[in-house]
Amino acid sequence: MGDLPSIPSSVSRVMEVLDNPRSSSNDLADALAMDQSLTTRILKTVNSAFYGFPRRIETLSQAVTILGYRAVRELVTVTGLFQELDKQASEPGLNRPEFWRHAAGCGLAARVIAERTGTGRGQGIFLAGLLHDIGKVFLDAFLHDEYLEALELAGQKQTSLFEAEMRVLDGANHTDFGYWLAEEWNLPPSLTAAIAFHHDPTLSQDHYTLVCMVHVGNVLTRALEVGFGGDDLVPAVNRQAWSSLHLTPSLLESIVTDFDQRLSEDLPLL
Ligand SMILES: [Fe+2]
Ligand SMILES: [Fe+2]
Repeated sequence: MGDLPSIPSSVSRVMEVLDNPRSSSNDLADALAMDQSLTTRILKTVNSAFYGFPRRIETLSQAVTILGYRAVRELVTVTGLFQELDKQASEPGLNRPEFWRHAAGCGLAARVIAERTGTGRGQGIFLAGLLHDIGKVFLDAFLHDEYLEALELAGQKQTSLFEAEMRVLDGANHTDFGYWLAEEWNLPPSLTAAIAFHHDPTLSQDHYTLVCMVHVGNVLTRALEVGFGGDDLVPAVNRQAWSSLHLTPSLLESIVTDFDQRLSEDLPLL
């Protein structure tokens, strides 16, 4: 498989600064100054319609002041990790803009579910949704030929990409690879759980509620055809996740309405 992509050092430095309550926005700017392309991408995102600020944000310390540490932490992690994996894939089999929409759609849906059900503290939910399928990006980059085969299989038949992956990869799928990668990268346990168990939340021991929200968010994003996650099939919602989140048909309806409306407002992020 060649060299494992390492977590970019700029990302781990920034995470350290953001996790230290005594750090200042100058420390953050210093930590990021080494990685110009990361900084550029973050500023581009911050200045996109997603945040809708009337004036341009020129520096990262301004971004921290306006968005807060948490939002900047999320941006840095996601941008850095995906950038690292994308470097490897010269000709991605997964359509990147559509895949991003799927990932961001899932993050947004999970966040709406958290707000509407009042479960979970909302921390890191968007990020967990954004990263849930990172195993697919990894496979696309590192086992490219096999992944093209899986994508093709999922494209022709009524086979989900999940099943196609297992057929091509000797029983393994993107959640196994994502789990392994998340452990190698020392991602926070909540993110690791979402990456590893979003297809079957009952397997997760910690962060169960968050995993349930990402699971339902993924299904919603597919049902409403937001972006493309690799196939056109809509997986079923896990019964146990449904009842653990205290979902009801009418609650789901209000979640869908809210999600739909915020999609058009928030998703230009990507
Ligand atoms: Fe998935
Ligand atoms: Fe997904």
